[in-house]
Amino acid sequence: MEHATLVQRGPLPSYLSLPDPVPDLVRILAPTGDHLWLVTDRELGRQVLAEDRFSRALAVAPQAPAIHPLRPDATALTSLDPPDHHRLRRLVSHAFTPPAMAALEKGLRQTASDLLTGRRSMDLVPDYVMVLAATAICRVLGIPEAEQGRFSALADRAHGITPCSPEQSGVARGELREYVASLVTADGLGPDEDLLGALRRSREEDAALTVDELTGLVELLLDAGYETTIGQISLAVLALMERPEQWRLLVRRPAAVPGAVEELLRYAPVVPISFTRVARHDTVLGGERIRAGEGVLVSLLHANFRLRDHPDPADLRVDRQGVRHLTFGHGPHVCLGARLARLQTRIALNELIATAPNLSLDVDPAGLGWRPSEALVRGPTALPVSW
Ligand code: HEM
Repeated sequence: MEHATLVQRGPLPSYLSLPDPVPDLVRILAPTGDHLWLVTDRELGRQVLAEDRFSRALAVAPQAPAIHPLRPDATALTSLDPPDHHRLRRLVSHAFTPPAMAALEKGLRQTASDLLTGRRSMDLVPDYVMVLAATAICRVLGIPEAEQGRFSALADRAHGITPCSPEQSGVARGELREYVASLVTADGLGPDEDLLGALRRSREEDAALTVDELTGLVELLLDAGYETTIGQISLAVLALMERPEQWRLLVRRPAAVPGAVEELLRYAPVVPISFTRVARHDTVLGGERIRAGEGVLVSLLHANFRLRDHPDPADLRVDRQGVRHLTFGHGPHVCLGARLARLQTRIALNELIATAPNLSLDVDPAGLGWRPSEALVRGPTALPVSW
């Protein structure tokens, strides 16, 4: 199936509308005026994301071809190549291990269940998904319980999740940064097993680590992990509401939810494209000559649909076996929060199935509001439902 974008709801950037048949590798014109290579084939995409001939660090240099006008911070985890990248990533990776996730599960399940209990209708985005995602990120970081409300209000404005002007969003970003810096440096706050405690400890052990570096890491976790999870769970529920027979299948067999989560991640990826990489030297990819300095990015969306080994990849089948996708990327920068995102999606669906088995959408999906296509984290802004 070549028409990945046809089964997707919501606005997408125009450079993802590709000719039919979709080529494995195509030159696109970015909104910045730069030309880049867009990879739509999963195997080629994995090469771009994992191989040393394509660099992230070169892609954040001031003159590098870019897909967005905004230049990422060159010192951020997402902007580094190994070995600098390993050094920063290892500081935060332990917060996302299977035991760390298992420790979160019971509490998050309770939060999800409490949010639904006693209700017969709600807007799932603000009243369920956003609260669950905020609670999860606060627990991972170790934000004190009493401060979670303040923290999520700031994060919502900083990320434009709560409607506000760009100026208000900028102010919230500044306040959030100050707040995070105070948490990274504060003594005696929260248990040391949480992420903030561990970061404070690493600073004591490694004087080379600056407060800015640590603050940047926490901000990145928020940037990368909050809107994405909100959008992904919302897209998953919407996809199921549009395919009621698939929802009913899960209601009959809740044990199938973990597999269904993989299929929903494949079918409705919240982030349609990878970050850009730049070729270190002249090289060949998929039979095309890529010149040193040229930018390459992967359409995760197309890669998920152009799977020769999946029958009918354009179809949502929650009981599909052996699902493969690139929704979390691949290689050294593969999503650090993938386990947390999977856990939250699984809990969100399981609790909905348990409390609201006859869940349905109260509005025509065609009339739903969407995050803007330039935001690059997709998702409906509201999902009014009842049960
Ligand atoms: C369903 C939700 C999510 C999706 C679809 C997603 C997707 C991605 C993708 C595609 C990348 C790699 C981009 C590239 O290499 O070009 C990535 C990286 C990353 N993600 Fe996620 N993400 C999600 C949730 C989260 C969560 C919950 C967190 C943490 C709380 C998180 C933290 C990160 C970080 C820190 C990176 C950068 C890793 C590095 O550069 O080494 N993500 N994510």
